Amino acid sequence: MMSRPDPAKRKPIVLYVDDESSNRIVFQHSFEEEFQILLAEGADEATMLVSQHPVEIVVTDQRMPGKSGMDLLETIKSSHPRIIRMVVTAYTDLEPILRAVNEGLVARYLMKPWDYAELRGALHWGAEVFHASEEDAVLAARVLKTERMATLGTLAASLVHDLRQPLSYMRYNVERLVQLRPAVAGMKRLLEAAPDALSKEEKKAVGALSTEFDDLAADINSGTVLISDLLRDLASWISPARVEGARVQEAVHVIRFAASLCRTVTQRARVGVTYEGPERIENVSIEASELTQILVNLITNGAQAIESADRPGGTIMIRAKVEGRQVSISVSDDGPGMPPETVEKLGTLFFSTRAGGTGLGINQCFRLVSRAGGDVRIESTEGEGTTIHLHLLKAFDG
Ligand SMILES: Nc1ncnc2c1ncn2[C@@H]1O[C@H](COP(=O)(O)OP(=O)(O)OP(=O)(O)O)[C@@H](O)[C@H]1O
Ligand SMILES: [Mg+2]
Repeated sequence: MMSRPDPAKRKPIVLYVDDESSNRIVFQHSFEEEFQILLAEGADEATMLVSQHPVEIVVTDQRMPGKSGMDLLETIKSSHPRIIRMVVTAYTDLEPILRAVNEGLVARYLMKPWDYAELRGALHWGAEVFHASEEDAVLAARVLKTERMATLGTLAASLVHDLRQPLSYMRYNVERLVQLRPAVAGMKRLLEAAPDALSKEEKKAVGALSTEFDDLAADINSGTVLISDLLRDLASWISPARVEGARVQEAVHVIRFAASLCRTVTQRARVGVTYEGPERIENVSIEASELTQILVNLITNGAQAIESADRPGGTIMIRAKVEGRQVSISVSDDGPGMPPETVEKLGTLFFSTRAGGTGLGINQCFRLVSRAGGDVRIESTEGEGTTIHLHLLKAFDG
């Protein structure tokens, strides 16, 4: 078994390598109580310190003038293979980091600027693994291997998290483009009224725009929906850390937006989507991107259910209500409903009765809603339809 180093024993020795002196000072100041800190401003100095002291952990910045952090770790790996190697880096250096993690060069990868609690945890973990490797090299190797997987998971989680934001801009922008659609017809008419106002090339472009606009917007829309679905699935696997204090500023906008994202599915199923409730619902405690995902899941499920029952002309009704701190949003469909055995299994990962279904949707809803402090209730009657109720909370302050 691994054990924490006995506090009576000497502190674990950590070598921190960074060319910026302010970073070195902060590092030393943050961790000197629990660890014996050695500082180096570059790879050469670090290599020298490693040969002079029984270093247990090396934490290095990736970008440094001269030898990079990765080169340094490579040197240390061959001269002192047991030292636990960690790197601090920014996204721009992603490719070499991935390679390094895969090759076992780096045990832990930390994002810049580092977070005190995360780095402290990593250092304690590193000291434990180092001592475990004294007692049981096989166990230590296994721990390091598992850790590599975890590192890749962390990396994926931060990527997913960071991709969401540009993606949601794109989605809003596509929506805006669709709103601007009348401008295309207008331009064409103007051109007909004043055929000489534009050059030949401009005329051609206006003509092309008027025929291609709808397809272009629809393609961008399906592309972003696809990417966001992929991210959603990935996120549900790696479960990125929850952002504290997340809130939707105005939920009705999100409801309408989610409905617009489902247009392809609802139109194909010939399903109308209606909203009934207040015009504005402010400050709901959940992330906008999460509420969007939840609603997209539910609306899509409803439309797919109606379509599978081959009952065109069905409807999906989204209702919202605010009572004190409670915000209730429900999505109802008049599709085929579900037998009680199915309702019972809802939320189980990979449970799906749909050809081509992955069975992630409802599970995702359960997880996101409960993480936001809310809950989900399901009502379904065979032959009549299904209603999924989301109970969320108003964010208090502001
Ligand atoms: N509104 C609904 N009406 C009838 N059945 C539903 C409804 N919503 C969900 N279901 C049933 O619950 C199952 C699980 O739904 P869930 O959204 O989790 O997965 P999926 O739709 O099958 O796949 P995914 O959403 O991952 O593409 C569905 O396969 C379907 O049998
Ligand atoms: Mg689904």
